[in-house]
Amino acid sequence: MTGRHLLGIAELGAEGIAEMLRLADTFVEVGRRPIPRVPALRGKTVVSAFFEDSTRTRLSFETAAKRLSADVMTFTSSSSSLNKGESLRDTVRNIAAMGADAFVVRHSCAGTPLQVARWLAEEGGASVVNAGDGAHEHPTQALLDCYTVSRERRARFGAVPEGARALEGLHIAIVGDIRHSRVARSDVLAFSALGATVTLVAPPTLLPPSLEGWPVAVSHDIESVLPKCDVAYLLRLQNERMSEQFLPSVHEYTATYGLTASRARLLGPQALVMHPGPVRRGVELAAEVADSPSSVITTQVANGVAVRMAVLFHLLGQGAQVGA
Ligand code: ASP
Ligand code: CP
Repeated sequence: MTGRHLLGIAELGAEGIAEMLRLADTFVEVGRRPIPRVPALRGKTVVSAFFEDSTRTRLSFETAAKRLSADVMTFTSSSSSLNKGESLRDTVRNIAAMGADAFVVRHSCAGTPLQVARWLAEEGGASVVNAGDGAHEHPTQALLDCYTVSRERRARFGAVPEGARALEGLHIAIVGDIRHSRVARSDVLAFSALGATVTLVAPPTLLPPSLEGWPVAVSHDIESVLPKCDVAYLLRLQNERMSEQFLPSVHEYTATYGLTASRARLLGPQALVMHPGPVRRGVELAAEVADSPSSVITTQVANGVAVRMAVLFHLLGQGAQVGA
């Protein structure tokens, strides 16, 4: 990360991702202490600005900021003066006026974090972290996914390369609603930057209209992909972003693309099952697969705190770079 914001994975590059994974390792240790808190961001204020629903991302950013001793200002759009007609720009300006060092922004419109960063440049220049914008990007999800693959492979299978190098040469299948998924966009960039081969598995209607420039292979046959993959990464059908009918029925989707218990038996013994959450059990994957030893879904969530501590520390802590 060279600038003061984290808006997308491309701005990090392989070296930036590796650096975040290294930093996250140090913060995982902080999380294990009896008092899991360090003074690194004492005196800083982090605004949690979520304009779209969230459980994991919001709580883990707020936890991460508190563990770094930052003050946290929580903005909830549903109970804000947006409902009285105040604009997004004025909302941002007013929060900035109270004194904020970073805004963590989630919004249903792609590009909102970038727009907020531009406005903030006129209001003292707080940092912005993209916590998910429309179907565009979810960079900290991709970082915690890379971190989870790396740590879990090392913990389970021993002598694999450390850190970001653990993803080199892996085969990762991303299955499901790629078209509406910001997680898929950020994960494809991050996984491929670290040397993994990515296969997208989805019905044609749930792929983006164009995959030009995407460093991926595509398959419509989940059963032929599963035996070859090191990671099966399932995505939720994101109905909230579907403007038309993309599938004959949810039942049909599960029958053709769901990771059922019998399909999960096609996975190799070392394969990991991942999902960003929220999981719809019985739709994109069976409940027994979500709870099986190969599933690292809860570990992803746990790692999210350390990874977000790394990002906030990098942007606001000692040696933070200002510019860009
Ligand atoms: N929670 C992730 C996101 O906000 C994935 C999902 O909602 O399905 O993008
Ligand atoms: N993975 C993820 O972003 O979850 P939330 O939508 O609950 O934050």
